[in-house]
Amino acid sequence: MNLNRRRFLGLTGLTVAGGATAVALGSGFSWGGALDNGEPGTLVRSGIPLPPPFQVPLPIPPVLRPVRSDASADYYEIPQQVSTLEILPGVKTEAWTYGGTFPGPTLVSRSGRRMVVKHRNELPRPVVVHLHGGHTPSASDGYPGDTILPLNAPPAHEMMLMPGTPTVGTRDYTYPSNQRAATLWYHDHSMGFTGPMVWLGLAGFHLVHDDEEDSLPLPKGDRDLPLMITDRAFTADGRLDYPALAPNLSVPGVTSGYLNGVLGDVVLVNGAPWPVLDVKRLRYRLRLLNASNCRRYRLQLDPPPPGGNGFVQVGGDGGLLAAPLAHDAIEMASAERFDVVVDFSRYPPGTRVRLLNTFGTGRTVEVMRFDVAADARAPVDDATVPPKLSTIVPLDPGKATVTREFLFQSHSDRSGWTINGQPYEPGHPLATPRLGDTEIWRFVSDVHHPIHLHLDQFQVLARNGGKPGPYDQGWKDTVDVRAAESAEIAVRFNDYAGRYVFHCHNLEHEDMAMMADFTTS
Ligand code: C2O
Ligand code: CU
Ligand code: CU
Repeated sequence: MNLNRRRFLGLTGLTVAGGATAVALGSGFSWGGALDNGEPGTLVRSGIPLPPPFQVPLPIPPVLRPVRSDASADYYEIPQQVSTLEILPGVKTEAWTYGGTFPGPTLVSRSGRRMVVKHRNELPRPVVVHLHGGHTPSASDGYPGDTILPLNAPPAHEMMLMPGTPTVGTRDYTYPSNQRAATLWYHDHSMGFTGPMVWLGLAGFHLVHDDEEDSLPLPKGDRDLPLMITDRAFTADGRLDYPALAPNLSVPGVTSGYLNGVLGDVVLVNGAPWPVLDVKRLRYRLRLLNASNCRRYRLQLDPPPPGGNGFVQVGGDGGLLAAPLAHDAIEMASAERFDVVVDFSRYPPGTRVRLLNTFGTGRTVEVMRFDVAADARAPVDDATVPPKLSTIVPLDPGKATVTREFLFQSHSDRSGWTINGQPYEPGHPLATPRLGDTEIWRFVSDVHHPIHLHLDQFQVLARNGGKPGPYDQGWKDTVDVRAAESAEIAVRFNDYAGRYVFHCHNLEHEDMAMMADFTTS
């Protein structure tokens, strides 16, 4: 075991206030024993009675206002703080939040307009902020060593060994927003500690708008809804329950069952358990985000609308598709976004439409419910889905300068995860792409791994040498590579030279070292 690896395990073994509980060693752990839904993960069962579904109204996270604006940028401030929330009705839960809410406030930016976000760390441990899907200069991208140290706590010496540039108390993140309209999200990216930090509440939406999207007659305003789907578990006294991941080094050969990924038994949408939303008999745009640590969802409407194809996908991770794509179900892995339009006028008045997760079991089968208005006459819908949405110029794989191959698999001693046999070594890039070149990256998996690249979106070229799948369309930044699968993508990095990372977005895999640097020049 090298020094970096040891440091990793040390960091992961820290406890979080209100978070960690002991892991029952060796209990029912089977390595790589993928469930039917393909996600490797282990369930944490809540110790508190869970509420019945469809009681809590769907919350919509507040949109953050700038503290000031000038000719060059809009300026925002977000304090990161410990907050007491009511997630389960009548139960107080301590969360780690962006600005006091979970999800954090939604940031809304305009394509081409610079945004500067000052994060202030009032939490008791270092944090890192990453804008997922952001086309962001390296210094603001949330490289794991670019920490914001807490104002009042001395940094752990491990932090000082990380390559990167820590700041104390605050940090300004600059987002040029030179990218097309898309549903992005921001979340913590702490070295070896992203899983617990996100689980405790550090995630929010960041929407980019542009003229092209504005010109389309898609549903707008209160019929354009960001939906952040997560799973969590709660202790008997209402705390968010996150288990320790690290192998027990004092008992050789004993590993934590949670290295596979942490699953909860409560489904939250925008931070509310199994919420309900009243909808008119009109079209709604749902910006679906899977912000779960490792859970995969297969979302379906129940009942399906007459004739099926209830979801009309208009966008993905990197914004609008070229043309709408109808689905009966949406399969989404951690970090993926699916922007869909659902036409509730297809349902009889008064229908209660459940959003189901058919990959779930028990309570995780249900996600939320839409209660369709009971009035017999549907209002006139000013929104529609046009047959052409945008233009997507395919990256030409024939022009690729290089094909890189990355094998995502468990560490040989099963103490974590690797890319090309390497646990994450900050400062040792596994790729050095040149800006402006088209490259082919091929990912090969052992078990299921949703693979995410920072800096730029990509296009999926193939799965197992065949066609891309139904959920691979448009610009992606996370590709859901299933067990024993290979996926090929075309990517072209642009504009920003520097240090970035790519990694598995199963956050427990990421924390247990399934990450690598790449350096652009
Ligand atoms: Cu959403 Cu590097 O992560
Ligand atoms: Cu990212
Ligand atoms: Cu993984």
